[in-house]
Amino acid sequence: MVSEIFKINRRNLMVGGGAALVVSGASPAASMEGQTKDALRVLAGKLFFSGDRPGRWKGKEKGHVPLIKIDKDNNNVLVRAATNHPMEPSHNVIKHILMDENFNFIQEQVFNQQFDMPRSRFELNGYKGRLYIGSLCNLHDNWINWADV
Ligand SMILES: [Fe+2]
Repeated sequence: MVSEIFKINRRNLMVGGGAALVVSGASPAASMEGQTKDALRVLAGKLFFSGDRPGRWKGKEKGHVPLIKIDKDNNNVLVRAATNHPMEPSHNVIKHILMDENFNFIQEQVFNQQFDMPRSRFELNGYKGRLYIGSLCNLHDNWINWADV
């Protein structure tokens, strides 16, 4: 009976997607990165959104996908991000989150709805590779975009 429940739960989790990637994992740590990337693919358009995966927020891409500009001067990297989104008391961008190519947190910029526009600026030293910016709307969730340095 227990094994039947486990089988059912496991099958349900596999149908559900992302969680199955963790539950059925039981594999060497070396494959975790691949599993995480698979999970991210499953969650794109569901838990977080992008221009090509707007999910339930289709039509809101223009006002939520953060625009990214990278300027590089030798080892100095300046990352600027902007979300073309209003900053109203009931609807605003809470923060921008900068992540490295493996989605590790680097820095964030929290916005004050009263005084800030949703624009951020990050200075990095010697970074090479892909960067992700997450832009978090209080109503329409987290949107990501990326750029390569
Ligand atoms: Fe929004």
